Amino acid sequence: MELIKAKDYQDMSKKAAQFIIEKVKANPKAVLGLATGGTPVQTYANIVEEHQKNDTTYQGVTSFNLDEYIGLPVEDPNSYHYYMNKHLFSHIDIPDTQVFLPNGLAADLTEECSAYEDLIKQHGGIDLQLLGLGHNGHIGFNEPGTPFEQRTHVVDLAESTIKANARFFDKLEEVPRQAITAGIRTIMDSKEMLLIVSGEQKREALQHLLHGEVTTDFPASILQQHPHVTVIATEDAL
Ligand code: PGA
Repeated sequence: MELIKAKDYQDMSKKAAQFIIEKVKANPKAVLGLATGGTPVQTYANIVEEHQKNDTTYQGVTSFNLDEYIGLPVEDPNSYHYYMNKHLFSHIDIPDTQVFLPNGLAADLTEECSAYEDLIKQHGGIDLQLLGLGHNGHIGFNEPGTPFEQRTHVVDLAESTIKANARFFDKLEEVPRQAITAGIRTIMDSKEMLLIVSGEQKREALQHLLHGEVTTDFPASILQQHPHVTVIATEDAL
């Protein structure tokens, strides 16, 4: 694992955006794995700004998001479809037909999970997966206890995750209880990963990720076994 220290959230976001932009410039047909949550917001803003300034193109890029809530319509401001359009897709030139998120409204959710997995394979797999880190070590919505071999699946969100995500909703009761997430095996199949971590409240989780035991109790610990992971973390998270 390569560790890059950032001064603060702004610096982390700048470095992460640069990292992604360079990958896209080196491989204009890159398949990106994308994440949502609070951490990547400014990274996406920097990618948008750079695109507007330098015309870096995303026309050949394909993206797959890690997860989506079950039961939220695409136009719901708390859906990850909405988040991605708001923060990234509507501001860059990536074609709509090349952005994919799991469909949390699919009639057959099991079928949706295997179709999503197949779609990633058909595109040759993920070249660069962007990841945030949950307080409980989750990556995507793979909560503690998720088997490392699991692929895209339906998950019951941990109570701590529901509470952590309640900040985006009006009421705790509005946070969906389930999601579709790319599995740990899906994530580990990515050729390269970029994990971004910011803030003192992530310190314990980051310590476990970097130095702790590899265990399903802390899903992100499996990244220690991936050959090509870069972590960009703020000083206070370190
Ligand atoms: P956050 O979430 O970026 O909102 O802190 C990270 C995660 O849960 O993966």
